[in-house]
Amino acid sequence: MEMCKIIGCATRRAMQMIRSRHGLTQESLEKKVCDQLLCLKTAYFDDSIDPDYTSDFARVGYLFRYVLTRAHIMKYALKEMEELSRVIQGDGGSGTCKICCLGGGPGSEILGIAKFIEDLSLPNTIHLEIVSLDKIEAWKNEFKIICAEIESDYRERYGSSQTKWPVTLRFACHSIDLLNVTDCDDLQGIPQQDIFIISYLISELWCGNGSRRDCFHRSFKKIVDCLSCGSYFLFIDRTEPKELQEYIKQLIRDSGLKQVTHKSKVDGRWDSNESKDLHLSDLVKAFGKPHMKWSAFFVLAKKLIPF
Ligand SMILES: C[S@@+](CC[C@H](N)C(=O)[O-])C[C@H]1O[C@@H](n2cnc3c(N)ncnc32)[C@H](O)[C@@H]1O
Repeated sequence: MEMCKIIGCATRRAMQMIRSRHGLTQESLEKKVCDQLLCLKTAYFDDSIDPDYTSDFARVGYLFRYVLTRAHIMKYALKEMEELSRVIQGDGGSGTCKICCLGGGPGSEILGIAKFIEDLSLPNTIHLEIVSLDKIEAWKNEFKIICAEIESDYRERYGSSQTKWPVTLRFACHSIDLLNVTDCDDLQGIPQQDIFIISYLISELWCGNGSRRDCFHRSFKKIVDCLSCGSYFLFIDRTEPKELQEYIKQLIRDSGLKQVTHKSKVDGRWDSNESKDLHLSDLVKAFGKPHMKWSAFFVLAKKLIPF
């Protein structure tokens, strides 16, 4: 699978949908997406501004510009963390892996995981059961589109029988504010997960005076307390500021999790075998290049049996 192809098709499909929803010309749609991309970029560089994903134009912009990089980062984490990669491959032999993304947005993580599994060329199919929890309900549109594009690519290349696919996807998206501890009461209905992925959520809590982090601390502890032992927690976020890394490690300790490993990578880049020009040229012309270089900090933790 070429992730560029998936994101190219997904972005075009999402644009088509919002173009007809808003009754816009292609030109005015592109202009609105460019405006929102500028707002997102500003927010990512300025911790006093909150990124706003409520607009259709902002989400489609994110889908094009940021999802590929995030998917590459996810794939990198799996390559580097053998223990995690074994869990993703359905460790116990069931071939099923249950994943919950906190602040899952459009599901960049799932694209990276699907690509990682496909590249392993396993003899069996891996069944991914995904739950995404995000405060923006509308992200489920982009999530659905990405999953549909992955499935359509598999159908094209492996045929219609899912037993021949590298991965099958079952997913659900729930709208939950992870800063609201009472919102997290409902999570008890979410069954045991093998892996929780918290990718670029913590950096979004950096805006303001720290009260958001305190709220998240309480919600996160509640989620951890509800689970039985064995679940893994993968945190992925930016490398700066250093306090962000310290916060994640403290969160892990305070929630009673055991840190398994951590890693930083500062000179990450996309795989060179992705044909960006082939699949994205029209979108690059409209919106500029997608993000290609990345730096990230990774921490893997696990809920162990208490002594
Ligand atoms: C930078 S995006 C990351 C999305 C995805 N995980 C990725 O790596 O591409 C941050 C996500 O966190 C979500 N988010 C921010 N604050 C949240 C909150 N209080 N509760 C739930 N989700 C939140 C945003 O809506 C957004 O989808």
